[in-house]
Amino acid sequence: MYLVPLSLARRLGPALKPLRALVAGGWLQEADTDCLLRLVHPALRLKRVFARVESRVWVADDMLALGLRTNGNAHGWRPGQHVRLYRELDGVRHGRSYSLTKAEPDGRIELAVRRQPGGRFSNGLLERLEVGSLVELDPAQGELTWPHEAGSVLLLAAGSGITPLLGLLRHALAQGFAAPVTLLHYVRQRRQRAFGEELQGLMARYPNFQVRWAISGEAPAAGELAGRFQAAHLAGRPVHSLLACGPHGFVASVDDWWRAEPRAGGLQVEAFTPPAPSVGGGEQVRLRFARSHRELPGNSAVNLLEQAEAHGLRPPHGCRQGICTACTCQLLAGGVRDLRTGGLTHGPGLPIRLCVSAPLGDVELDL
Ligand code: FES
Repeated sequence: MYLVPLSLARRLGPALKPLRALVAGGWLQEADTDCLLRLVHPALRLKRVFARVESRVWVADDMLALGLRTNGNAHGWRPGQHVRLYRELDGVRHGRSYSLTKAEPDGRIELAVRRQPGGRFSNGLLERLEVGSLVELDPAQGELTWPHEAGSVLLLAAGSGITPLLGLLRHALAQGFAAPVTLLHYVRQRRQRAFGEELQGLMARYPNFQVRWAISGEAPAAGELAGRFQAAHLAGRPVHSLLACGPHGFVASVDDWWRAEPRAGGLQVEAFTPPAPSVGGGEQVRLRFARSHRELPGNSAVNLLEQAEAHGLRPPHGCRQGICTACTCQLLAGGVRDLRTGGLTHGPGLPIRLCVSAPLGDVELDL
């Protein structure tokens, strides 16, 4: 039994301002203060975001939507961003990133979790995270935004890539976005059409919205597309602005199609799996980690996060997919290649994401 319900604990947020000022001034320790606040409600914290599970709804055979209510510290979160959710497994704290399919001003959010073959963390959420449980979340990150000025919008999602795009779509339609919007969702099997009923309902309600599914592991039915992403699926569709999300291979195919000819609109892509590791040995290079005062051998084919970890360093990181920015570090000398796009970054002082950057030659990092 808590001293106050979560709804009241959320309203205490502004009253904690003086305590935050004391912590900022070094007069109080945040951890000590949080210990006392937890006695009022276990989700009450000065800055950290905790949330209570309020609902569990299966939205496909292999995907569960979790409705959560945050503790009042989730400021400025937007649908389409992603958050890292933490739980303890066998006494060890683990975290995974999930997209926000909903983020309401009253602190209600929704995340969708997909069953992963052999995935202990996600499958544990599906099977054991009950309504009423508390979880901790990192601040939301992510750069996908709805193109409000576009004359038409095409959304391409593969698998659980539907989740950030659905968050953006729901919000845009509810805000009155009136230009044509088409969503193509690529799934292996029909029963994996996550949020299918809701999407059909949106199509009935908003005449400017159309959804189609592409099925790669079964014979397509009438009205469905067949197979994986291909240019023929887009024939005749106006594309002023394109947003794509899915595994790295899918996003790379969309990106190649977009860049094959000059286009006037805007492209935004987000991959939720890292690029396949490079085959082949790569070149031997020197890695200098300035703050750790270490110089070590490295390889030009492997991302810098893995190489730093292999040498015993522990850089902060989150998604390991180039999305969350948690591993961003300053390049002090040399150049790197973005393993997702092939883009090159040279020169001192530039931020790079270690998890998707491989050294072009000798490099020095502020690490
Ligand atoms: S760990 Fe998330 S961007 Fe590198």
